[in-house]
Amino acid sequence: MNNKRIKLGINVDHVATLREARKIDFPDPKQAAILAEKAGCDSIVVHLREDRRHIKEKDIQNIKDSIQVKLNLEMSTMPDIVDFALEVLPDQVTLVPEREQEITTEGGLDLENQVEHITKIIEKFKAKNIQTSLFIDPSEKQVNYASMTKADFIEFHTGQYVDAKSFKSRELQLNKLVECAQLANSLGLGVNAGHGLNYDNVVSITKLPYLEELNIGHSIIAKAIFVGIEQAVKQMLNLLHS
Ligand code: PXP
Repeated sequence: MNNKRIKLGINVDHVATLREARKIDFPDPKQAAILAEKAGCDSIVVHLREDRRHIKEKDIQNIKDSIQVKLNLEMSTMPDIVDFALEVLPDQVTLVPEREQEITTEGGLDLENQVEHITKIIEKFKAKNIQTSLFIDPSEKQVNYASMTKADFIEFHTGQYVDAKSFKSRELQLNKLVECAQLANSLGLGVNAGHGLNYDNVVSITKLPYLEELNIGHSIIAKAIFVGIEQAVKQMLNLLHS
């Protein structure tokens, strides 16, 4: 069911967040991306938020020009961002919901009333050979809608699993993820996951059936402050492949 090596995408937004705290030109997320690739990660993830609060357009072009691994651009469906993505041509786009006041992406896309809209955007990316992923909560309803859009992947928002306080509620969340991963696979969708994953909670998630890729940012960049990016990435890779 899950014989494949699970891939690791490193989200380098937080390096840009630190840079923007001073509004200067370092630390550079491109440098983090280069080191993460050297450490063996499979892709680099960046989120171009509507308010450009961390990653900017120039970061994405710079990173694209500096890495060999896959570039995965997380983004909302704002027309100017879609146009930018169609110009810069990342290997993959992951469509995410975006709310102005949120600290991070809080919850997945609600596809119920936007299947047609998202399908049209996905068609544009497919025409440019860009892989597409939809960030959704682990809900059968959302998986079914996702399959209607002809996206290549869904990425499950793991926030509810991460936030579960008791053993019982954690098991419940894991079961929900397992059922939704099975459904997604049966509908031809690739299965990725991410959000809030860290060195303590990731191993249970690696057991998800059909899981192809985990995307992790905050915990790895936070650890990198103490041990460096290469070590932080390698330690996570060891957990994924142990
Ligand atoms: N995947 C997606 C789609 C996200 O929006 C985020 C947060 O930017 C992540 C993964 C990574 O989450 P975290 O920083 O909590 O590891």
